[in-house]
Amino acid sequence: MSTPSENGERRLAFLEMDDPEHRSHRAAMQPMFIRPRTLGWWRHRWIDDIVNTLVEALKQRNRAELNIQLCARVPVHTITRAIGMDGADSLEFRNALLKTTAHSVTPEARGRAAKTVERMLLDLIAQRRAVPGDDVVTGLIAAELELPDGSKRPLTDREIMLDCRLVMLAGGGTSWRQFGITLWALLTHREQLEAVRADRSLVDAAIEEAVRWNPTDPVFSRLVLQDAELEGTHIPAGSVLEICLGAANRDPSRWETPDAYDLHRKFQGHLGFGLGTHLCMGQNVARSEINAGINALLDAFPNLRLDPDAPSPYLTGGLEQRGMSGVPVLLR
Ligand code: HEM
Repeated sequence: MSTPSENGERRLAFLEMDDPEHRSHRAAMQPMFIRPRTLGWWRHRWIDDIVNTLVEALKQRNRAELNIQLCARVPVHTITRAIGMDGADSLEFRNALLKTTAHSVTPEARGRAAKTVERMLLDLIAQRRAVPGDDVVTGLIAAELELPDGSKRPLTDREIMLDCRLVMLAGGGTSWRQFGITLWALLTHREQLEAVRADRSLVDAAIEEAVRWNPTDPVFSRLVLQDAELEGTHIPAGSVLEICLGAANRDPSRWETPDAYDLHRKFQGHLGFGLGTHLCMGQNVARSEINAGINALLDAFPNLRLDPDAPSPYLTGGLEQRGMSGVPVLLR
């Protein structure tokens, strides 16, 4: 996710930094992503409206493919609008952003898309510097970066651009795929779906258990900086360690019946959102998006069920981006 810098300024997003630099960049953005903000600001300003509009459109239909018609759309609209990229520009922006990581386009096309994303974000930042809004870019303009000597300074346009690009890349496909996995879990476990329908306080447990059971990004890697010993295995400095969060989430020494989807299991921490320094910063946004989506579906469609005539959904995407092949449903 790094960008070559033409003027020697910072070029890495904070996902790729180490502490203490990582900590100070993350701290400038994090206050906008804490739970009270995602339950209040994010839901009331963007998520509820987006979910309700999409679910309202589904009411005209008897069947739907929720993975595309709902799960994919909620996060991409939420994150684009939350950044402040709304209106006519947002479609061009989202298309360019998707191309920056697409393997199906040439490296030249990826490079052009990256330039478009950069230019559009820098334009947006200039606009918000002139006329502040109520969005993430405006929040970052007001934020301060704490330096190692304890002094503070505002973020540069380039730093704001990199932070926005990071949350847009990290917060689109992840929530989409995890939302689809959660719906699939519920739709294939009817008694748990009915329990959630009857007691909406269980929606959060349904989401959390889906992230444990099948996290959308089950493997992350780390570069080992110094010789280490792990469970009797020597790991030399310079190794690349593939960390399988998905396997840890089904460790039989920690989880009873680890392969079962069971939202009633006793809550304990899982690794679906990572752990430690780079613990997912957007996890509460994801929870709010999926929670709003499930509640709206259950309110609108009392008879929601998998479509028996459609191909059976299956998990796809390999080790990095797991999601559903589809979530075909009958709405009535
Ligand atoms: C259910 C959906 C999501 C899952 C399963 C997920 C998972 C993760 C994981 C496992 C990491 C750690 C990566 C590592 O250690 O290398 C991470 C980091 C991150 N995620 Fe998420 N994520 C989700 C949604 C989101 C959303 C919606 C956003 C933003 C709105 C977001 C923003 C980020 C950011 C900025 C980081 C980097 C944090 C840092 O480096 O300090 N994520 N995510």
